Order: sequence, then structure tokens, then C-alpha cells
Amino acid sequence: MSQIFVTRRYRFCAAHRLHTDLLSPEENWAAFGKCNNANGHGHNYVVLVTIRAGTAESSTNLDSLDRLVTDTVIERFDHQDLNSDPAFSALTTTGENLVAVIWDILNPLLPAGRLDKVGVIETRDNYFEYTGAR
Ligand code: NI
Repeated sequence: MSQIFVTRRYRFCAAHRLHTDLLSPEENWAAFGKCNNANGHGHNYVVLVTIRAGTAESSTNLDSLDRLVTDTVIERFDHQDLNSDPAFSALTTTGENLVAVIWDILNPLLPAGRLDKVGVIETRDNYFEYTGAR
């Protein structure tokens, strides 16, 4: 059966530091390099949220998706330090973990099966994509 998907783009700016207390300072530096700098650094994150579109009879309500993503993801992370967010209390703030955290925020709030994919662009050359458990 054919399926149309809709992707919406959102943005937030946040600081982070790649660091884990499970490693020594030297091991952290070896693992994360300059991203382990104690003062952290920032990114202009782009979040791409892909959902299964509605049919011609019931078109996709992008306003409600925008409200949901803005209220639960963008306002939570924008101009914050990701390392201070409870979602990362036991997780390093890598793009891999961030994209999964965003999926885990949104997926329970959408009808079952609606969320298809979450993408996070962290830098010009880094893109992370997560499709959750299927
Ligand atoms: Ni970074």
C-alpha cells in the first residue's frame, strides 16, 4: 500500500559537552576530542520530524504537530545546556542519543504508528536519524 510522508523542520540552539563520568579525563578526551572541552560549545540544531501523512479525506494536521513539537521539544531544549536536561542525566549528549531522546518524547504523544522518523542535523556534516522500535 502506498504511503505519503510529511516532514516538518524545526530549529533550536543549545550548548552541550561530550563527556561521561564513566571515563577518566584522559579517556574522555581520547573519545570526544575538543567536544570534551570543559566550557562546552553550541550548535544550531535542526530537527526533522517525519510522520505518515493523512489521506485525501483527512489531510495531515500540521498545526497540531507544530504545537506538539514546539511545546515538548523546542521549548525544552532551546537556549539550554543539554547536559543539564534530565533526559541526559545518564546519557552523553551525542547526536545519536539526542535523536533517540526526541523520538522518545514525541512517539508516545502521537497516535500509534504516526511517527515515522526523527532526524537531527547537528553540524554541516553530521546528520542523525532514528526510526525507533518497529
Ligand atoms: Ni557538539
